[in-house]
Amino acid sequence: MPQKVRGVVALEKGAPVSIETIIIPDPGPGEVVVKIAACGVCHTDLHYREGAINDQFPFLLGHEAAGHVELVGEGVTEVAVGDYVILNWRAVCGTCRACLRGRPWYCFSTHNAHQSMTLEDGTPLSPALGIGAFADKTLVAAGQCTKVDPAATPQVAGLLGCGVMAGLGAALNTGNVSRGDSVAVIGCGGVGDAAIAGARLAGAGRIIAVDVDDRKLEWAKEFGATHTINSRERNAVEAIQELTDGNGADVVIDAVGRPETYEQAFYARDLAGTVVLVGVPSPDMRLELPLIDFFGRGGSLKSSWYGDCLPSRDFPMLIDLYLQGRLPLDKFVSEEIGLDDVEAAFEKMHHGDVLRSVVVL
Ligand SMILES: NC(=O)c1ccc[n+]([C@@H]2O[C@H](COP(=O)([O-])OP(=O)(O)OC[C@H]3O[C@@H](n4cnc5c(N)ncnc54)[C@H](O)[C@@H]3O)[C@@H](O)[C@H]2O)c1
Ligand SMILES: [Zn+2]
Ligand SMILES: [Zn+2]
Repeated sequence: MPQKVRGVVALEKGAPVSIETIIIPDPGPGEVVVKIAACGVCHTDLHYREGAINDQFPFLLGHEAAGHVELVGEGVTEVAVGDYVILNWRAVCGTCRACLRGRPWYCFSTHNAHQSMTLEDGTPLSPALGIGAFADKTLVAAGQCTKVDPAATPQVAGLLGCGVMAGLGAALNTGNVSRGDSVAVIGCGGVGDAAIAGARLAGAGRIIAVDVDDRKLEWAKEFGATHTINSRERNAVEAIQELTDGNGADVVIDAVGRPETYEQAFYARDLAGTVVLVGVPSPDMRLELPLIDFFGRGGSLKSSWYGDCLPSRDFPMLIDLYLQGRLPLDKFVSEEIGLDDVEAAFEKMHHGDVLRSVVVL
């Protein structure tokens, strides 16, 4: 029997979101229905609402979520009814060219549910990142569910579903931060602070946080920043060099994604160092730098999609580290809100007042 539940929907471009009745079909082959327990508010949800991702309105928003599997479709073996899961947007296919080469974290053909959830009048909904979890329940592909230890609350566990995983993975997977490395992180929102936490976990010696907002720099210290730089007041490149014996950092992570922050990251790394771009630029942005500097400085320039994570490998491991007290996931939760408060949470995010607002159901 299809179910009627509440969901936060962006009906048209730029308009405030509204709570709508949505219809969830019974799960088909390979699909599951998940009862959502908590879902974080991410910048990408706002991008969807603004029409910046694509124009396939209406969108069912929300994608940083944890909950319980309620129904499973035919042939589902990955999870069972009652399992406590984090939802992911990287259900790897196992057969694309990346998967076949043993690099599934780049999977080019990830799975989503085949059927659509709809409004009451039958209009199909586009779920944000194939998830749509600002809702009592959602329909996803079984591979989008990763089972984790239920000792971690859903408010905390759900964060690994997007931004926090992106930041942790930018340091741990893409940047491959190692013991004793010096690391600089530009932009200390949820993603940047997660990169700082990842660098600390990996044993970085010096962790330099850069932001334009002093409040953010204070919070960054709680995640492991050993030094902070307000780049409105100081030249970030010179300040990072000063803190690294004049050399620059081994790994610099750009968690903003603008030409000026990328240029800072490029020049603030040591020779043969690594730059990781995890902030998402807009399509109009351009970068112009002397080509000789690319050659002369060596090293590697990388981008990090979803922290190059493999949910089945990384989510349970990171939850275990959290439960051991080695990863302060609860510090990301600035406030707990209801489904009605998503629009207000976008406003707070826009003003930089929160790291994460989390909808609790
Ligand atoms: N690569 C991925 O898979 C992935 C996943 C999730 C989010 N993201 C992206 O990561 C970025 C950060 O996300 P967030 O949730 O942390 O956002 P956020 O808005 O919470 O944080 C951005 C931070 O950057 C700071 N900042 C802005 N301009 C700056 C500048 N010129 N120099 C230094 N600091 C500056 C802000 O003060 C803020 O603290 C976004 O672009 C988001 O889309 C990427
Ligand atoms: Zn694949
Ligand atoms: Zn997100």
